[in-house]
Amino acid sequence: MATMTSAGHVTDGPTGFTGVDATPEWAQEIRRLARERNATILAHNYQLPEIQDVADHVGDSLALSRIAAEAPEDTIVFCGVHFMAETAKILSPDKTVLIPDQRAGCSLADSVSADELRAWKAEHPGAVVVSYVNTTAAVKALTDICCTSSNAVDVVASIDPEREVLFLPDQFLGAHVKRVTGRENIHIWAGECHVHAGINGDELTEQAHRNPDADLFVHPECGCATSALYLAGAGAFPADRVHILSTGGMVDAAKAVRTERGGSSRVLVATEIGMLHQLRRAAPGIDFQAVNDRASCKYMKMITPAALLRCLTDNRDEVHVDADTAALARESVRRMISLGNPGGGE
Ligand code: 13P
Ligand code: SF4
Repeated sequence: MATMTSAGHVTDGPTGFTGVDATPEWAQEIRRLARERNATILAHNYQLPEIQDVADHVGDSLALSRIAAEAPEDTIVFCGVHFMAETAKILSPDKTVLIPDQRAGCSLADSVSADELRAWKAEHPGAVVVSYVNTTAAVKALTDICCTSSNAVDVVASIDPEREVLFLPDQFLGAHVKRVTGRENIHIWAGECHVHAGINGDELTEQAHRNPDADLFVHPECGCATSALYLAGAGAFPADRVHILSTGGMVDAAKAVRTERGGSSRVLVATEIGMLHQLRRAAPGIDFQAVNDRASCKYMKMITPAALLRCLTDNRDEVHVDADTAALARESVRRMISLGNPGGGE
């Protein structure tokens, strides 16, 4: 059976700190500055390994939203892309939220605008709008409930089966949710992430045939998610080795594979390549291989050590969301966070 986590996952750090001598000077300076200004550094699983290692918390977008909502610090430094930092600001409007480079956008979030959503809603009055967190604050403000890759199935399953659902913007995640929930009255926006859409079914099929004993970890945004399930369904690959997972779910699954099959296993990973760093930390000894080793998100990689240092010294780039938009968007994000496992990172 293909599996998908619903909890979100976080690794508390700074994960790369093995002792002062082993810590590069720039990283020590970042830790000092963060302490001095009472800031917490959050990093998404797709960040550069050195950024993951210097952060206080590393996780998927759901886990990081939860941490941002409850962070006791005055400042949140978000090492991720802009919609993630914006979500932190929506949840913690009184805090200073910084992103080391505000040009770090997201092709998926850009695939639907607030005007397009308004027009879509007008065509389906009464429908419940479910937006992936990979959207702008303006789109979230027009949304009934947000979701992330780790809870999209639970969110849609929680909606009255009689109501129509508008799911946006990712068509592959939408197809996955439709498949798992068996829901027919769901309309799916035709957006995609350029990185995940590029991890295609042919590559996955070829690698799966060359590695019949491997496990497959597939992010539901991938163009190849359907192929993975087809391989399992057609008996070409053992179904219990195909896992459709959020980035945080992959870390949990890595530990489970290590426990069940020992250290000599191989796992083929279909997602952005920054993910390999946390997986290798979580389960050393397992051979994690990218299905497409060119699957790198240029926006995530804009957050460099130099940009993070500049962010903490110059107090930029600060993230702002206008108060009315934030108030509406907050409701849709809070509905998501309160659904199951409230407040927990696991
Ligand atoms: P997760 O929600 O799995 O962390 O993914 C976020 C993302 O941007 C995927 O491309
Ligand atoms: Fe957006 Fe895709 Fe980059 Fe994730 S990997 S941040 S969805 S462009």
